[in-house]
Amino acid sequence: MPHQVTPAEDALGRLLGDLRLSIIDQCNLRCQYCMPEEHYTWLPRADLLTVDEIDRLVEAFVALGVSKVRLTGGEPLIRPELPEIISAVHSRMGGTSGLTDLAITTNGVLLADRAAVLKAAGLGRISISLDTLRPERFEALSRRKSHSKVLEGIRSVSAAGFRDTKFDSVVIRGFNQDELADLIEFAKGVPAEVRFIEYMDVGGATHWSMDKVYTKEEILADLRERYGKIDPISKVDAAPANRYRLPDGTTFGIIASTTDPFCSTCNRSRVTADGIWLHCLYSIGGTNLRIPLRDGATSEELQSILRAGWARRADRGAENRLALRSRAVFVPVETLKRDPHLEMHTRGG
Ligand code: GTP
Ligand code: 5AD
Ligand code: SF4
Repeated sequence: MPHQVTPAEDALGRLLGDLRLSIIDQCNLRCQYCMPEEHYTWLPRADLLTVDEIDRLVEAFVALGVSKVRLTGGEPLIRPELPEIISAVHSRMGGTSGLTDLAITTNGVLLADRAAVLKAAGLGRISISLDTLRPERFEALSRRKSHSKVLEGIRSVSAAGFRDTKFDSVVIRGFNQDELADLIEFAKGVPAEVRFIEYMDVGGATHWSMDKVYTKEEILADLRERYGKIDPISKVDAAPANRYRLPDGTTFGIIASTTDPFCSTCNRSRVTADGIWLHCLYSIGGTNLRIPLRDGATSEELQSILRAGWARRADRGAENRLALRSRAVFVPVETLKRDPHLEMHTRGG
């Protein structure tokens, strides 16, 4: 840890370590688990943080102990200034900075033309949402005919020289639970590591119900049947995935946020594209950082806002959801329409 960083600690003793910056709320897909409605209320464009504002925010978060920055959306490749944003964050890495990891989460549709530009700008890693290998299922899930563009995007990532690529695959009962091994086999050839994600009852998931959740235990049972013995890999960081190794050495992950949440080690902050700071994926409200940024706050002033806010953090959203006796949709659609900040596509996947 570089000497100028005094890590921020929250009310449950969790050190701030990971920053997920949504840089745009809009998306070019309409995945059923995230954006199932036809019409959405978008954030006002004038409210989106500028490249300079994002840079100042990252500087302050890094001073408080953030070592990983992930850019998300909506779909981050829609934002025209993405290469400038990557360059700005990348310039905060190196030297005595504690920032060591810069990644992006994308649906891959626009990657094919841009992977090389993003690499040149300083992007380190890419996670691509890939729920199905079947074009007709992709179209049913996302209501767009972009599956071949996604596959083209995936091919371009290795060609551009990226390593440690990951696939995020949300597993939904009755939709894609029969593709687990196909996704693993496909990922071997890329190469990439698949993470199977339990369907979560986050804001935006207005069609969620517990019976559609294909659980970690079910995923493991299916894969044992197909591959034989599966060895767990011991966890080295606060990342949400439990990782496993197949007999041939192939690794994969499972993110069991619905049945086995990782709140007790959650070190992540989220900032929406308009600068609202959220302590948890399930937070109802957050802190408006756009106001101090636009009022010309110094880095020290931003740091004291962040340190004080993080010190109050006691959120355990996914664990609280798990403790409910009857679990239904988290936020009703009418409430989402009134406050787009509650949407998953606003707070970053
Ligand atoms: P790496 O940086 O590659 O380690 O990524 P990661 O393992 O941290 O995973 P990533 O941040 O890409 O998140 C993958 C998935 O985990 C998301 O798409 C969500 O489904 C879920 N997830 C991410 N963040 C949170 C969170 O704050 N809380 C919960 N409960 N789930 C999350
Ligand atoms: N459940 C689980 N993961 C979700 N994501 C979005 N909505 C959900 C949900 N309801 C995550 C997926 C997707 C990323 C962009 O956000 O991992 O790949
Ligand atoms: Fe778009 Fe990602 Fe949400 Fe799908 S999950 S609608 S790709 S933001």
